[in-house]
Amino acid sequence: STERTLILLKPDAVRRSLRGEILRRIEAKGYSILALDQREATQELLAQHYAEHEGKPFYGPLVDFMSSGPVVAILAEGEGVIAGFRSLAGATNPTQAAPGSIRGDLAREWDTAVIQNLVHGSDSEESAAREIAIWFPEQG
Ligand code: CMP
Repeated sequence: STERTLILLKPDAVRRSLRGEILRRIEAKGYSILALDQREATQELLAQHYAEHEGKPFYGPLVDFMSSGPVVAILAEGEGVIAGFRSLAGATNPTQAAPGSIRGDLAREWDTAVIQNLVHGSDSEESAAREIAIWFPEQG
């Protein structure tokens, strides 16, 4: 079915000038970009977005990393885009991500406190609805 998902290009992607390369892969796959916005994520927004990770050892480093520079928030739409983008992104740990995936091709692990893996994609319909409401409240 046609779905919507929330994609984030994380600060490492922006710093490394990989926005175009990653957007190219999203568009080449045929997904539609309905909205796209570069911004500095506030602590409040990140606390909402990462609520499920609060208390985990990497939570502090994760919030620090995600607020270390601008991110690009993307509202994408397409047939099966939620699982489809997770597949394009590859495994969470870039050292285990398959070649051909965004993380497999473009990322490696260089920070021990938090995995820097270029992109985020919602992991379920429920997450997508929740995260779209956080990042694009006007798109409800
Ligand atoms: P993401 O799936 O977008 O959202 C949670 C993030 O936390 C994840 O990407 C990684 O950046 C980071 N992360 C998840 N698990 C770990 C872990 N075990 N150690 C360090 N960072 C992690």
